Amino acid sequence: MIRVGLCGLGYWGKNLFRTISGNPNIEFVGVADAKAETRDKLAASHPHLKLYADALELIADPEIDAVVLATPVSFHYAQAKAALDAGKHVMVEKPMCTTSAEADDLIARAERHGLTLMADHTFLFHPAVLKLGELVHSGALGQISYFDSQRVNLGLFQPDVNVLWDLAPHDISIIDYLFGGEPVHVEASGYCHVNPGFPDIAYLTFHYPNSMVAHLNLSWMSPVKVRRIAVGGSDKMVVWDDMNREEPIKIYDSGITTHPRQDREIILPSYRIGSVSSPRLAGNEPLVDVVENFRQVILGQAKPRSDGHVGRRVLRTLERAQAALDISLRQVDVAMADAFYSIAAE
Ligand SMILES: NC(=O)c1ccc[n+]([C@@H]2O[C@H](COP(=O)([O-])OP(=O)(O)OC[C@H]3O[C@@H](n4cnc5c(N)ncnc54)[C@H](O)[C@@H]3O)[C@@H](O)[C@H]2O)c1
Repeated sequence: MIRVGLCGLGYWGKNLFRTISGNPNIEFVGVADAKAETRDKLAASHPHLKLYADALELIADPEIDAVVLATPVSFHYAQAKAALDAGKHVMVEKPMCTTSAEADDLIARAERHGLTLMADHTFLFHPAVLKLGELVHSGALGQISYFDSQRVNLGLFQPDVNVLWDLAPHDISIIDYLFGGEPVHVEASGYCHVNPGFPDIAYLTFHYPNSMVAHLNLSWMSPVKVRRIAVGGSDKMVVWDDMNREEPIKIYDSGITTHPRQDREIILPSYRIGSVSSPRLAGNEPLVDVVENFRQVILGQAKPRSDGHVGRRVLRTLERAQAALDISLRQVDVAMADAFYSIAAE
């Protein structure tokens, strides 16, 4: 049986704790968390678990074969590297690390040591994403023209990443799964309302070959939580509302018929508004399947659905989005300063 240790028992680590504990084929050895209060509570409720004050202590424990990292993003690279060098299989929370160069290094280390490296892009295990994949990959939607995502809520402000690095990994990993390939051009703008230099709202536009455009609206400043993805194709369009428990996915048999270029000035496009269907989604809680996939990959019984290469592709797009966001933030600063001086001069 694989012996697993979990590092980081914060907001997301608690979900991993529940799913690792619930997997009957995993021996859950211990938990590392920097907070003494967290360890004390765990010692009282789960006296059989080993406890460590730092991830590196857990990683050094010879009784552990595989490590799950749910620590803050800035620690991921050093901890994953230490775990791989100690001969442990690793699953790292998204984003896998902070640069694609770090990701290259982790992938090379895992390959060199013959170990499993996975990035937890949980949505790749979500029944709704699998359904979207079925619709896109089978061609049921026709030629895809857009992917539009709204991922907004109030907080949680992260100490070491901005809203782009916190929320965009979800959409970028979903886009990667649905369409493959990386964007040919990336645009971004954003705003820092709470912490200077630390965007809490970001609008991203990714351009793909074949005229597909993806737009991501990411925010920690929304009073309501919205999780909505729309994918539009030439034959059908689909909307996934993750906050709608009854009918999360709706497939619209709707589309637009255009006419030959020479006729477009005289004949308007026609709209086809057909029926709407809402398929039932079946499946486990995604994180249960993430943990089980990690276990099976370690044992050579399955292929990883979200390996280090997925993690690296997500990071590459994040880096390009951050570069575009930096340019936009500087341009807006200059424009604001110009506006201020011209008003002052009047
Ligand atoms: N897959 C998802 O859907 C999803 C959702 C939310 C968060 N996450 C990811 O999970 C990770 C953690 O996010 P969070 O919101 O749980 O953060 P968090 O701050 O709530 O938790 C981090 C935990 O790590 C502990 N920690 C810090 N340094 C440590 C160290 N050196 N050794 C051991 N423990 C240490 C902290 O005490 C804290 O309990 C991030 O990478 C985040 O992006 C993933």
